[in-house]
Amino acid sequence: MDLFSSHSEHEKAESRLQELRKQIRHHDYLYYVQSRPEISDAEYDRLFKELQELEGQHPNQITPDSPTQRVGGASLDQFSKVKHDRALLSLDSVLDVEDVLAFDARMRRELEVEQVEYSVEPKFDGLSIELVYENGIFVRGSTRGDGVTGEDVTSNLRTIRSLPLHLQQVSSLPTRIVVRGEVYLPLPDFQELNRRLTERGEATFANPRNMASGSLRQLDPRLTAKRPLVVTCYDLMVSSSDPFASHWEAVSSLATWGLPIPTLRQLCSSIAEVMVFHQDMIEKREGLSYEIDGIVVKVNNRSYQDRLGEKSRSPRWATAYKFPPRKELTKVQDIVVSVGRTGALTPVALLDPVEVGGVTISRATLHNIEEVARKDVRVGDTVKVERAGDVIPDIVERVPIPGEHRGEPFTVPTHCPVCESSVVQEGPIYYCTGQTVCTAQLKGGIEHFASKGALNIEGLGKKTVAQLVDEKFVRDYSDIYWLTKEQLLQLEGFADKSATQLLAAIEQSKAPSLERFLFGLGIHHVGSHVAKVLASHFGALENVIAATEEELLQVHEIGSETAHSVVTFFAEPRNMAVLNQMKELGVQVETISSDDHVNSKPLAGKIFVLTGGLDGYSRQDAKQRIERLGGRVTSSVSKKTHYVVAGTDPGSKLDDAKKLGVEILNEEKFTALLEQEE
Ligand code: IVH
Repeated sequence: MDLFSSHSEHEKAESRLQELRKQIRHHDYLYYVQSRPEISDAEYDRLFKELQELEGQHPNQITPDSPTQRVGGASLDQFSKVKHDRALLSLDSVLDVEDVLAFDARMRRELEVEQVEYSVEPKFDGLSIELVYENGIFVRGSTRGDGVTGEDVTSNLRTIRSLPLHLQQVSSLPTRIVVRGEVYLPLPDFQELNRRLTERGEATFANPRNMASGSLRQLDPRLTAKRPLVVTCYDLMVSSSDPFASHWEAVSSLATWGLPIPTLRQLCSSIAEVMVFHQDMIEKREGLSYEIDGIVVKVNNRSYQDRLGEKSRSPRWATAYKFPPRKELTKVQDIVVSVGRTGALTPVALLDPVEVGGVTISRATLHNIEEVARKDVRVGDTVKVERAGDVIPDIVERVPIPGEHRGEPFTVPTHCPVCESSVVQEGPIYYCTGQTVCTAQLKGGIEHFASKGALNIEGLGKKTVAQLVDEKFVRDYSDIYWLTKEQLLQLEGFADKSATQLLAAIEQSKAPSLERFLFGLGIHHVGSHVAKVLASHFGALENVIAATEEELLQVHEIGSETAHSVVTFFAEPRNMAVLNQMKELGVQVETISSDDHVNSKPLAGKIFVLTGGLDGYSRQDAKQRIERLGGRVTSSVSKKTHYVVAGTDPGSKLDDAKKLGVEILNEEKFTALLEQEE
């Protein structure tokens, strides 16, 4: 073959390859995104086969975005971590009409308008993902993870047919976009796969979301490719050019670029319309081929969204309006008592397995002993169980059956079923008194200490913690830092690699932030938010330990119960011994430099209210600047307010300020204050 003809053959192949890819992409889009195919499956298969063959003859012309490359990635040892461009926030949720009305009232008050327009969509019960497209090409996809950092699942996402590897090259397409969406598994596929798993005697998945998550987090993309996952996109998070004034327009553009978006979304001019949409969806829900557990209500106007801003984990401008839980009847096989990390005894009903909204339930919490008595649930009774989204199933009530023969009423054990220590009562709650000897409390505590929101020790989950405690390798929190490879290798399920990985994860956890560490200690009333407040106020673990009840009470958001519980915790010599032991073993809790922690900041303790528009700042900017200097922004004016910042078109908050004699700052004075303090 002379050079000439080989050259032109190369070109011919190249142009045919391009043509085939273009056609296949187009048909993928019609089929998977638009659900309106124009050609038969057989015709599609012919095109695909031709492309595969031609690529086989010209392997150096295979491009990564070719439709044949959806299953190209090699199997991985582990996923690499990806820091998200912007945090993938979560959503607050409401369940009742009053709460959704309160949400609307808050939006109207904050925005100082009569009516707010909302964009509403179904709330998909799947997995949140981040997708990055550069020059129209899908370059990276990741799971939500803890919201800040997720796992790189690009190769697995590529196998999802409704996810375009290539966007439509229209002029409005920005060079780089970051999109948020949800991956889910259609219900019929979930049922079918579970059926096949049962046939093969393998473990089934409890619900479609777990199956979707298991499928997306396969290290071998070929396994993911076998699961018919679906993607839908509901947010343009970052964009190199972003002219969209509303959420609605931004999402519409995603569709213009070829991305799948929710088909059931709607614009509502008032909260009344939102409520109608909610009701509509409840009715449609049963007929849908995928699981939704509510609707998401978003303030449509994006400059309003900016003004409303966000809290640490969720935006103020959106909420999930959940559906009422689904209910079914079943029978109580037994009532057992479980012991939590605080020692509280929780009665748990073991049930005849029953499916509630696609999930098989075989246990339900009865919360506390008083509740068992109040509901008068006994072994053998028929009960109504409900499941609301993710929460542990609940027994709503006993259903009396005419002529039934009932068992004995449930009685509280006098001794802990795990450690046999005596049981004491505090209000409605019964506690095991064996704090330091009860392995159930220890297990719960260590699991919490190692959990994602606390020290985040990967690999130290429920099962491993139970093994470590049962083998007596771990008798208190500090023992985690003594663990050796020899010990881990004695545990079932551990091999050289997993043992090394766990030890590395433990080693990595030795420099926790103060906030995570305080949360991890599991002090009563110290959840993640209170831990954050304490950390930013006190700056160092020593300061928290030394704080008196009075000092704690001075801190905004710390009430008397919390203050008391913190002081009691650190006054307990056994707790201090564990902390000292950890320190000796190299655990160094991060200290927040005095510049960063709130007390020493120039606007510490100052409360601001913002009203009207500012030229030089978005609401979010202004708020961040104030907070960086230690101040706080609240939404309504009271005697406690120090400054009201009034921009253009201020609302009634300005009148309130005048009435109460609160100092009013115009934009110029506000800027001067910030600059003077910075
Ligand atoms: S918007 C900042 N829209 O719900 C905006 N989320 O509990 C945050 N979700 O983790 C998300 N459907 O995975 C949004 N139409 C929808 C959604 C949706 C499902 C999930 C998302 C998030 C969770 C929040």
